Amino acid sequence: MKTSRHFLLWVLVCAGLCQYYISYHLDGEPPPNMKDLVEMNGYSLETYDVETDDGYILGLYRVGSKGADLNNRTVVFLQHGLCAASEIFVSTGIERSLAFLLADRGYDVWLGNNRGNQHSRRHRTLDIDSSEYWDFSYHEMGHHDLSAMIDKALTVSGQEKLEYVGHSLGTHTLLVLLSTRPEYNQKISQGITLAPAVYSRQNKFYYGSYFALYYAKWRVKLWHSNWLPYVEKLGKLPFKFCSPDHPLSYFCYLVYISFGPSNQVHETAFATTLSTALTSTSLKTFAQLALNYDVDKFVRMDPDTNQPIAYDLSLVNTPITLIYSDNDYIARPQNVIRLNSELANSTLYNVPCEHFNHLDYLFGKNVVDLVYKKVIHLLQGNSKY
Ligand SMILES: *[C@@H]1O[C@H](CO)[C@@H](O)[C@H](O)[C@H]1NC(C)=O
Ligand SMILES: *[C@@H]1O[C@H](CO)[C@@H](O)[C@H](O)[C@H]1NC(C)=O
Repeated sequence: MKTSRHFLLWVLVCAGLCQYYISYHLDGEPPPNMKDLVEMNGYSLETYDVETDDGYILGLYRVGSKGADLNNRTVVFLQHGLCAASEIFVSTGIERSLAFLLADRGYDVWLGNNRGNQHSRRHRTLDIDSSEYWDFSYHEMGHHDLSAMIDKALTVSGQEKLEYVGHSLGTHTLLVLLSTRPEYNQKISQGITLAPAVYSRQNKFYYGSYFALYYAKWRVKLWHSNWLPYVEKLGKLPFKFCSPDHPLSYFCYLVYISFGPSNQVHETAFATTLSTALTSTSLKTFAQLALNYDVDKFVRMDPDTNQPIAYDLSLVNTPITLIYSDNDYIARPQNVIRLNSELANSTLYNVPCEHFNHLDYLFGKNVVDLVYKKVIHLLQGNSKY
């Protein structure tokens, strides 16, 4: 299909979604929040406010088995990806949510939330509606947010190290942290990354690439505009729209498979999770992703010179497992293999399923057998149990 037609298709789909949302969903029931999702499944939840060294106040959560003593357990830190929140690890039911599977196995599970999502919208001095508040990209999420949240989890649990599991952008933020604050290599005993899309040049995610191309033209303009408020409101929509019996659910399916062909679609999990976990972020986060795409390197923009500066991956020596799949349209195998070749202490794991896409790491029907069992196996290598 020609470029312009693809683009037009997506404009129409988005316009349709907006229309549907506005007409039918404004008065709908609010989707379940973190507390509902964790407690209704019988787990305990602790909530912490974490202030970063640049004044953002983030919501950090700790999940455990009901009544379990969380003292002196192995800490596992779960980090969501782009436009997502901690709900993503607790909203797909008791048998399939990664946070619950780990709590059942005795881990002390912590869930991070980056600045800008619904749990992390406060600041010591800045107003949420100011462009100064939204003047951040994933660089700040890795450098300031992740460091502050990891320190809090270690202080409260009394541990010296933790295990890190991140989905998609959770890889970028991990590598930003380890390369810009190398002392954190000592605090993370291993990283397990699901769908690590750090290099994206060969991605097949058409609208992401369009964004990058348009960004190239509008680079300067975009770099200075800072927020993306409506993603979250749209996110409430699929709750109804994507349920398997809904007449329009085929559109959801089309969106889902734009992340790669999948024989794993679990409509109910997808619908619930999107309605709870899809959230806002800054436009600058997309701009940094587009910049990476443009220059085909892992970089950030130097605010003084307006030139890209590469992250120094040679400073990363925490052992990292890069879990990837052949038909993920965002984290392409050749790009993951390239990342592996640039990290001193990483290994690859290829998901043994031909049609397993970028979202199947969260919602796939067989995600437990195909991916989470491997994650647990890797954690056991470092576990006290
Ligand atoms: C914590 O666990 C380690 C390893 O099992 C053990 O050596 C240590 O004594 C424990 N510490 C406390 C305070 O229970
Ligand atoms: C890889 O990680 C292990 C465990 O942390 C460490 O002992 C080793 O020095 C690291 N290797 C490199 C090449 O950084």
